[in-house]
Amino acid sequence: MTASALPGAPFLARQADELWLDGVRLADLAAEFGTPLYVYSRGAMAAAAAAYLQALSGRPHLLCYSMKANSSLAVTKTFADLGLGFDIVSGGELARVIAAGADPAKVVFSGVGKTRAEMHTALLAGVKCFNVESEPELLALSELASSLGRTAAVSLRINPDVDAKTHPYISTGLKGNKFGIAHGQARAAYAHAARLPGLRVVGIDCHIGSQITEIAPYLDALDRLLDLIEQVETDGIPIAHIDLGGGLGITYTDEQPPAADVLVRALLGRIDARGHGQREVLLEPGRSLVGNAGVLLTEALVLKPGTDKNFCIVDAAMNDLVRPAMYQSWMAIVPCQQRDPQVTPPLNWDIVGPICESGDWLGRDRSLSLQAGDLLAVLSAGAYGMAMASNYNTRPRAAEVMVAAGRAMLIRRREEVADLFRDELLPD
Ligand code: LLP
Repeated sequence: MTASALPGAPFLARQADELWLDGVRLADLAAEFGTPLYVYSRGAMAAAAAAYLQALSGRPHLLCYSMKANSSLAVTKTFADLGLGFDIVSGGELARVIAAGADPAKVVFSGVGKTRAEMHTALLAGVKCFNVESEPELLALSELASSLGRTAAVSLRINPDVDAKTHPYISTGLKGNKFGIAHGQARAAYAHAARLPGLRVVGIDCHIGSQITEIAPYLDALDRLLDLIEQVETDGIPIAHIDLGGGLGITYTDEQPPAADVLVRALLGRIDARGHGQREVLLEPGRSLVGNAGVLLTEALVLKPGTDKNFCIVDAAMNDLVRPAMYQSWMAIVPCQQRDPQVTPPLNWDIVGPICESGDWLGRDRSLSLQAGDLLAVLSAGAYGMAMASNYNTRPRAAEVMVAAGRAMLIRRREEVADLFRDELLPD
C-alpha cells in the first residue's frame, strides 16, 4: 500500500519509512501512551464536516453527527465547536452531549426503543426533536410531555422499503427490518400524531443503512419521503424539516463512495427539482465524519509462523475493535515502521488478538514484513472502534489521543483493571 493509498490520507503519511498522523510520529505516541491506543486527527474530522457543511450552506440545515460512531467527549466537543448538532440514541449519549458543553437544542433523538426515563430527560433538556419509530412511542411521548406541561417536537422515521434487489447492502430501510414506520402506514401515523395533545409534528426522517457507496438508494428513499410529505401536507399537517439520516460509506480498501459534498448536492438537487427547497435539511452522518480520521495502534506480541497459517498475535483484540470479528470487515493494517523486505521477507500473516476465541482477529492473510515488537496501525478505525469496545476477558479499554495542529492530547486515560470490578459486590 503506497502512501497515497493509505485510507485517511492526507492526514496519514509515510515519511522515511515511518507512519505519521498530522505531523506526529505514531511510534512516539505508542511510546508515550502505550498500546493499544486509538489516535484521531482533529483536522481530518473538521475536513470531513466541512465537505457536508459547504454543500449545505445557503439553505436551512442542521448537520447532526451520529455520535454512536465515536462518542468520546473530545470528539463530541470537536463537532459541537464546528456548529454541528447530534443524532443520539440513548440517554447516555444525551449526557455526553451535555458533558461536552454542546447544545441539546441541536439534538435529534433516534432509536427504536426509547425508555420513558430517556424521553423524560430529553424533554427536560429540550432536544430539537424525537425521531419516533412507532405508534406506541407516539402515545407514550405525548402522555409524558403532557404530564410535564411540555410539547414534544416529533419527526416520524419512515421505513421507505427501498428495493433490496437493486441495493442489497441496505439493511435498515427494508420492510423486514425493525426500524421505522412502514411507508404505507405513515400517513395515518401522522394524522394520529397531529391529534395527540403533547406532540408537535415538525419533520420526517429515514436512515436506510450504513457504509453505503452509491447515491441511487438515497435518491430512491428521498423520493419516497417527498411523496409522503406531499400527502401529509394535503391532510393539513405541515412538515418543516426532512432528515435523510446517515450511512455514507468510507474507503477501507477499494470502495469508492461519493464524496459527501457530491452526495449532498445530489440530494438538494432532487429536493429543489421537486419543489421542496424551502424545507430545513438534516443529515445524520457518523462513519463518514470520523472513520478515516482514526487509527488503532497495536504492538506485535508474538509471531507464530506455522505450516498452515502464520499468526501475528498483537496486544489489541476484538474487545478493542470488534468490526472484523462481528462483520468480517476488512480494515487496512500497516506497520508503523516499514522493514526492509530483503532482511525480513514478507509472509502472509493473520493478525489476531490474545482473546480466547478463534473469532478474535483484526485482519487475515496480510502480506507484511514483521518482527515481534513491531508497531502496527489498523486504519480507518475512528468509527465504531472505541465506541464498540468492551471489557471481554477483563481487558481494560484502550487510551485515546487526539492530534491537533501537530500536538497530541490524551483524551481518554487507559482504563485500570481496578475500574473493571469497582462496581461489583462480593456475596455474604
Ligand atoms: N442515523 C441512524 C438512525 C443510525 O442508525 C445510524 C447508524 C446513523 C445515523 C449513522 O450511520 P453512519 O453514517 O455511521 O453509517 N457498527 C456498524 C455500523 C452500525 C450503524 C448503525 N446506525 C459498523 O461498524 O459498521
